[in-house]
Amino acid sequence: MHESKYTDLAPIKHRKEFGQFFTPNNVADLMISWIIKDNPKSILDPAFGLGRFFDSLLKINKLRPDDILYKAYEIDPSIISYLDYSSHSSPVIEIADYLEADLKSYDAIVCNPPYMRFQNFLKRHHILPEIEKKAGIRLDGYTNIASIFLIKSLKELNTGGRLAYIMPFEFFNAGYGKEIKRLLLENSLLKQIIVFSNEKDIFPEVTTTICILLCRKDGVTSPIKLTRIDHVDQLKNIRSFEDFFQYELTPSQLPPDKKWSPVISGLYEQITIPSELSKISEYGKFVRGIATGANKFFALNREKIKNLGFGSNNYCRCITKSPQIRKSIFTENDFHDLEKSGAPVYCLNIKEHDNKKIIDYLNYGVSKGFHQRFLTNHRNPWYKLESRLPAPILAGVFNRGRLKIIRNFTGAINFTCFHSFYPNLPGENYINRIFIYLISDIGQDIIMTNKRKYGGGLDKFEPSDLNDGYCPSMNQFDRSSESDASEIIEIAKVDPQQAIDLSNRLITRILNA
Ligand SMILES: C[S@@+](CC[C@H](N)C(=O)[O-])C[C@H]1O[C@@H](n2cnc3c(N)ncnc32)[C@H](O)[C@@H]1O
Repeated sequence: MHESKYTDLAPIKHRKEFGQFFTPNNVADLMISWIIKDNPKSILDPAFGLGRFFDSLLKINKLRPDDILYKAYEIDPSIISYLDYSSHSSPVIEIADYLEADLKSYDAIVCNPPYMRFQNFLKRHHILPEIEKKAGIRLDGYTNIASIFLIKSLKELNTGGRLAYIMPFEFFNAGYGKEIKRLLLENSLLKQIIVFSNEKDIFPEVTTTICILLCRKDGVTSPIKLTRIDHVDQLKNIRSFEDFFQYELTPSQLPPDKKWSPVISGLYEQITIPSELSKISEYGKFVRGIATGANKFFALNREKIKNLGFGSNNYCRCITKSPQIRKSIFTENDFHDLEKSGAPVYCLNIKEHDNKKIIDYLNYGVSKGFHQRFLTNHRNPWYKLESRLPAPILAGVFNRGRLKIIRNFTGAINFTCFHSFYPNLPGENYINRIFIYLISDIGQDIIMTNKRKYGGGLDKFEPSDLNDGYCPSMNQFDRSSESDASEIIEIAKVDPQQAIDLSNRLITRILNA
């Protein structure tokens, strides 16, 4: 409202003194969309300026502003004189210092606070103790004004309420920010962080790096969404911040005592793929594990096999669930331990079709409708599974954090919980080195560039994502031997972390030679 008139007339010194930089329309619209999601009855705007957020509310008009109390504070009477609202749909503006006002409570809060440097925040010695008393927390004397706005607002948010705040990024890393980060996390308030890679585009006047925080006082601990906006045009296509994010972090990935910037920027850093690399597909192929269509029917444990009285021709060893393998090396001993524990580590693989016991089990399957599942219904006969050989390397389909890579030394095949790597002829000579590369941090970082994001912090890999992944060329691998890799594998059986460290060294050596 009248922004150009105001910026033309108000001296820049005055605007700087009050921290008067205005929120771009499309950003204000998205922030308002977040705070009005639960139909608030009261909205607080602690740093009103020219009323950019109120304008967005009028525009979005989902809620009629006259049905809600829109309470605003603005310290500068001169900026207020530029406003002119019809008596219908006008905000309640108090010309006062928000930080000195008594604590009240609101269903929704939206704010672009002033973010001048703390040295310019003259009343801090008086305000800080006041806010400490009202908010009941200890604050660092260096806490900047925007952070104090945020702390006060978080205290004023009603249960179930939503808050959207523009904040200078510096609190992520500054000592005084710890208390604020703790407050945001301890009460599970923080739901989303929005950062800008090229913010001059979007906030041309602002001289500090800023971000947007979205909070909700629902007491629900959920992953914190992370959004990076790379270009102003992107904003046009975003209908709601909530649905637009690239990463989700668990609250434990953002400890209040640690700097948050490296965590956040680390996620977005483009890793540089070393030159000369080949693709995994040069050494063989990852393929999906066996899809049975009815694991409950096809996966068997030792006891069930005994009770059913099948001959050994009618089942084979099989990894049927991802948690069955917890270490990166899977040996015969591990298989026997699993088998003894009663895990279903066999798979029906019928060879004797006229065996009476087998016929009985198939009839039981039919009686339970297993033959009419989507996959079984499309097979002939319905219980015939793909014929597969055991794969020497397995990769997790869904992963949290690191990609799960297993060196399989058993004769077990596997269901779809893992993708199976089958080497080609030249690949046969490199199996151990490919495994070492895949468990190394360098290999993990490179392969992770191909991952697909799933909700809840899960990464998904399709076989093609792995086959297209980069890995050392044969020339590079030939700078080490299979026996170098076998030694690391022996260590991995007892000390997985040491094995990763040794793999890092070996892979760094062959890539940099
Ligand atoms: C960054 S501007 C944001 C204005 C508007 N909400 C927007 O988003 O475009 C901050 C506004 O807060 C006002 N302000 C500064 N200190 C304040 C205080 N202690 N209490 C209330 N308002 C204050 C400034 O005058 C300025 O208009």
